[in-house]
Amino acid sequence: MLFRIARSREGGEITHYDVYKIELSEGMTVLDALFQIQDRMDPSLAFRYGCRGAVCGSCGMLVNKMPVLACGTQVEEIRDLSMNLQDFPPLSHIPAGWDPERSVLIEPLPNFPILKDLVVDLSKFYDSLEELKLWAEPQPGNEARSHSPEGRKRIERYVHCIMCAICFGACPVNHEKEEYVGPAALAKAWRFYDDARLTQRRRYLEAAKQADGAPLCELIMNCVRACPKGVAPGGAIHKIKSESIE
Ligand code: SF4
Ligand code: FES
Repeated sequence: MLFRIARSREGGEITHYDVYKIELSEGMTVLDALFQIQDRMDPSLAFRYGCRGAVCGSCGMLVNKMPVLACGTQVEEIRDLSMNLQDFPPLSHIPAGWDPERSVLIEPLPNFPILKDLVVDLSKFYDSLEELKLWAEPQPGNEARSHSPEGRKRIERYVHCIMCAICFGACPVNHEKEEYVGPAALAKAWRFYDDARLTQRRRYLEAAKQADGAPLCELIMNCVRACPKGVAPGGAIHKIKSESIE
């Protein structure tokens, strides 16, 4: 199996693609294939990973133009993967020489500056969490509060977000508008707004509705199709758009 991998030794632009021949084994993931390349053929190949178990969110990348977790994607499954994403330039650009019948194409997650090869700078993804102040602030005298099963169910899918930034990388609006806070931040804003245990919940809705938030979302839903955890940020954004802040 051939892997065609985007390279950028100095960061910035993809400068070229290198092709490697992988020795396949049963159950091998894309991350395993990258380790094989790094261990046996090219120690200079840079990629990011942490848990190897689809929970840390570190290994998001484009595989055959689909944003996935490298550790959560088996090489044998790649041919059957289909996301039906709306195209935007990083997805529609086909690099010279790539034939999907002959090789697997690996590229960095779009919409972020490239630091080296498959490693991107996620600062703007995390900055949006700070900008919207997406955390709970205990009030004086607050005590621990338990959640009702119904309350927990309301926010459950949003709690499953692993901050992998795949939704941000899959979003055509994030590609065009640098200021857009992105789908994960808005899903998290809804998660706090809809959490009955918190006080001052309106501030999350107000933050989500500010000019660089939900108003920029065009409800394209690439985030819903690509999210590896079923968080479905588009649903939260739709609710944010419908909710009045009066
Ligand atoms: S919403 Fe989904 S795709 Fe976006 S950061 Fe969270 S887990 Fe990743
Ligand atoms: S290495 Fe942690 S999600 Fe892939």
